[in-house]
Amino acid sequence: MLSLLRSSRLIFSLVSTTLIIGITGCPQSVSLSGSEIVEPQSAQSNVSPAAANRAATDVQALVSLGPRVAGTPVMDQASAYLIEEYRKAGYATKIQPFSYSKVEDQGSNLIVERTTITGRALNGSEAGNLSASLVAIPNVGQISDFEQVNVRGAIAIVERGEIRFSEKATNAAAAGAVGLIIVNNAPGDFSGSLGDGFDIPVLSLSQEQGRPLLKQAEREQLEITLNVNITERTVTGRNIIAHLAGVDQPSILVGGHYDSVQGSPGANDNASGTAVVLEMARNLANTPLAQQVWFVAFDGEEDGLHGSRAFVREADSQFLSNLKGMLNFDMVGINSALQASGTPTLTALVGTLDQPVSTVEGGIGGSDHVPFASADVPVLFFNRGQDANYHTPNDLQVEADLLNETTQIGLDVIRQVLGSR
Ligand code: BES
Ligand code: ZN
Repeated sequence: MLSLLRSSRLIFSLVSTTLIIGITGCPQSVSLSGSEIVEPQSAQSNVSPAAANRAATDVQALVSLGPRVAGTPVMDQASAYLIEEYRKAGYATKIQPFSYSKVEDQGSNLIVERTTITGRALNGSEAGNLSASLVAIPNVGQISDFEQVNVRGAIAIVERGEIRFSEKATNAAAAGAVGLIIVNNAPGDFSGSLGDGFDIPVLSLSQEQGRPLLKQAEREQLEITLNVNITERTVTGRNIIAHLAGVDQPSILVGGHYDSVQGSPGANDNASGTAVVLEMARNLANTPLAQQVWFVAFDGEEDGLHGSRAFVREADSQFLSNLKGMLNFDMVGINSALQASGTPTLTALVGTLDQPVSTVEGGIGGSDHVPFASADVPVLFFNRGQDANYHTPNDLQVEADLLNETTQIGLDVIRQVLGSR
């Protein structure tokens, strides 16, 4: 395990609830089975030993529920856990429900000469089962590329790249194609999104399976059957909003998403950020600063930032314009040094702190700060970069001391923004 090499780190193995402690210069590990927790010697002098495990315990509690997919019963348990923890810390909570439609691929493929090739429906594709001839489109599927062939009533096949999937699909439909296949321009499969509903079925194929088919269609007349099997359902997600009773207008909103993708227990993405936000709330609870902060656990992030979009949509403009900052914590429990990206005034302020955090103006990544930034709220996006277990069943581990370090940095940023240091 890579993390074991970082010997001073406390590693919380969330599958077996085994705690492994490595001590600098003296590699050793202590494993405890069951739910027993060893209290680490905190590196941060301002964190009590009892507090040092709280965020890791929260991560463990959330991960033990299984993947936290928006709209599933697991989210009832996850939200109940968070509500209870905020209550114990002295906060009132509100549940903010919101709904969106979610399209799921139920198994999509094409059949050519009795061979079935599995593909993926692009998000926003129409469902459909149709048989037609296959026409290879030259280049990448610009309007001029479609003008070189007759695709009317046929299924078009084109390579990925250069222009957006939606442009390829628009051009295909405009040229009269009844379906579209997009072949990866790099090894492997890909998933993609067309944006809002398209009226032809669109399937992606791996380069390995798609390229030979594209070449074959250039040489000969082929009849194929395209099956894009998708279902659409309405998902109801729930944001959990916590603040002290009577605090109606915060100056700072601190948040992170608590949902995860299907199949992934989401320890780092994003039980880590959820736990850090909760731990910041516990730290602030008995201080005057708690009068100026709201804490939000967003739902539906993995399906397209639905929780944060709903929050921004439902907030009145004065509430948003009174915010000095929205701090978003996403994937902060393992991996490299903490990074804060976002609004230049806030990244500059982070740069003045004597803390292990680097800053980037502007930003990377799709996460819950984006709808706030679009509404002109100054934002900071805290993360530790892409990790190897991102969106996989192996996203099971966080390091307690990285959660605590992130908590302390977050608290410092809040004090700085609120001018209390
Ligand atoms: N946690 C990720 C964002 C992220 C990625 C943070 C890498 C730090 C490092 C987030 O949950 C996610 O997967 N976002 C999607 C986009 C979103 C709109 C579904 C992404 O980044 O592809
Ligand atoms: Zn995430």
